[in-house]
Amino acid sequence: MSDVETTAAERARPARVTAAERIAAELGFKKSCIPEVGRLLALAAAAKPGGTVAESGTGSGVGTAWLHSGLGPGARLVSVERDGELARRAAGLFADDERVDVVTGDWRLLERHAPFDVFFCDGGGKRDDPERVVQLLAPGGILLLDDFTPSVHWPPRFEGEADELRLFYLTHRALAATEVLTTPSSAALVATRRA
Ligand SMILES: C[S@@+](CC[C@H](N)C(=O)[O-])C[C@H]1O[C@@H](n2cnc3c(N)ncnc32)[C@H](O)[C@@H]1O
Repeated sequence: MSDVETTAAERARPARVTAAERIAAELGFKKSCIPEVGRLLALAAAAKPGGTVAESGTGSGVGTAWLHSGLGPGARLVSVERDGELARRAAGLFADDERVDVVTGDWRLLERHAPFDVFFCDGGGKRDDPERVVQLLAPGGILLLDDFTPSVHWPPRFEGEADELRLFYLTHRALAATEVLTTPSSAALVATRRA
């Protein structure tokens, strides 16, 4: 395989993503993000080359690795995970890159690194304190939330009821937000904080 092909293969499936998926399999962790979301994460990180990129809920580091694959030379990435074993194993994947910190503890530990240019809110915050999630974004900062079920209704519905959480993000006055299909049966919310 030529260097160019190797680079293309690495972009399609970064080696650290594969390593993080291996840790997930070893630990029986089944909540890692899917590659379709991962590519969205890489895109967002690449859009903010000098930015502060944050993730709540590291898991085994799959999403972190996708964010890392788009990280610019002047950017930094901080991810927090409350499960000590997951955090320790994920941290090991990025020990060679001083731009990255994987922290053990509650998602609110991220606050000291705010404002965020990219925030993948995936474990803590998304449901329990959505207003705080919005406040932590820098103007122009990108918020990503995955694991929604696509809805053809407005207001969006989930299991027959209005989906108040999705509505909160989609209609928040400080955000421009939309829902994108990641697979035919899953969706992500992508938002940016208005300046
Ligand atoms: C959906 S998984 C994360 C998957 C990961 N972001 C990825 O993309 O591969 C959610 C993770 O958030 C962690 N978590 C849940 N609540 C948390 C909190 N309040 N603070 C920190 N981590 C939390 C869970 O332990 C779990 O590992």
